[in-house]
Amino acid sequence: MKLWGGRFQKNTDQLVDDFHSSISFDQRLYKYDINGSIAHAKMLAEVGVISKQDAEKIAAGLKDILADIEAGKVEFDVAAEDIHMNIEKLLIQRIGDVGKKLHTARSRNDQVALDIRMYLKDEIKQVLQLLKELRSTLLDLAEEHKETIMPGYTHLQRAQPVTLAHHLMAYVQMFERDSERLEDCYKRTDVMPLGSGALAGTTFPLDRQFVARELGFSRVTENSMDAVSDRDFAVEFCSAASLIMMHLSRFCEEIILWSSAEFNFIELDDAYSTGSSIMPQKKNPDPAELIRGKTGRVYGDLMTLLTMLKGLPLAYNKDMQEDKEALFDAVDTVKKCLMVFRPMVATMKVKSEKMAAAARGGFTNATDLADYLVNKGIPFRQAHEIVGKAVLYCIQKGKSLEEMSLDEYRELHPGIDEDVYTAISVERCVSARRVEGAPAPEAVQKAINAARQRL
Ligand code: ARG
Repeated sequence: MKLWGGRFQKNTDQLVDDFHSSISFDQRLYKYDINGSIAHAKMLAEVGVISKQDAEKIAAGLKDILADIEAGKVEFDVAAEDIHMNIEKLLIQRIGDVGKKLHTARSRNDQVALDIRMYLKDEIKQVLQLLKELRSTLLDLAEEHKETIMPGYTHLQRAQPVTLAHHLMAYVQMFERDSERLEDCYKRTDVMPLGSGALAGTTFPLDRQFVARELGFSRVTENSMDAVSDRDFAVEFCSAASLIMMHLSRFCEEIILWSSAEFNFIELDDAYSTGSSIMPQKKNPDPAELIRGKTGRVYGDLMTLLTMLKGLPLAYNKDMQEDKEALFDAVDTVKKCLMVFRPMVATMKVKSEKMAAAARGGFTNATDLADYLVNKGIPFRQAHEIVGKAVLYCIQKGKSLEEMSLDEYRELHPGIDEDVYTAISVERCVSARRVEGAPAPEAVQKAINAARQRL
């Protein structure tokens, strides 16, 4: 018989049991469900709704169940629908009628909201830790590569020289923002919904603050209808996770490009590459590609939640059971990707010479030549045109700006001197960009120090 079977004259169809059942995926909430129930029972005794002895029996029974689940000794029952009713059923089987008191002043609606919030709080902490480790790895790498010159790109065309450190620090900024977003999402996840009942609270004099304290929540929800209908925190998590994935994916795209023979800027460690079943020479950046690919899953999870919620009238609706697989998938995916990504980047071999050589080609110092002319008193727009002509001339002659003779330069503009060559060396192009947030090694060192401080 079902725990809610009183008003029914027939069993549910087997097909409906299967269809309704969430136990195959919500069983991962068992620990939160049990701890939430123990706190609830303790509070019921505290306010005199059940006796202390009953509360103790319930808590002991639940702890036994927890130990048995952890030892792999429990088989869940599809007909008992979800983790909440599976555990309640086990409890009643084990301790008898006392177990039937546990669900006093509670509904699965506030129970499931509690469980997911507890679960997500733990997971947010883990993702934050992974982000912290990644930021720290990137900072170490940046510290090593403050002088490693590489081309910066716009439109994927070489634009101006930067350093690898500066490039890496751009990602540190992204992952810092990601951490901030998760911390913010945590605040709204950390709200205790139990006591909201099915939707309209309860007639029993519950001490909701007690439960919040027991379970380590900062506050309690303020509206019982909102409390059982709200999954904003899950949407927020998936949105923050989507941005993390998007950042990882952009970084992965660069790693994939950089490890191609055409770029040849880096080589991934063998431990983070795979081969081809037919082409013996291949070394492919598969982990980076898979992270890029998995980004779509997490966007999908976000869209699943948003779409699931958009048409729901208050309060709880069974549609909301669909929140779990999407949320779990987003959590699992973002964690796995962060775990693979960090060592992949930490172990890649940087080919500094190749990077610098690429920065020297492609006229990445053209802006610096224009700036040089500005410093000689020529208005920037005019300087731009003069340098444009110089570039065209060099392309026709098959040379770089550094390879133009002083005579050739003076043809362009008589004010140009010997000092032009230092002004347009790529090292100088980088070191002269000292403004806050720019790639000069001292400026990047400041950025690294500040980011470490925040870590
Ligand atoms: N398994 C359900 C869920 O995940 C628990 C709440 C069920 N409540 C209900 N009234 N059917 O959403």
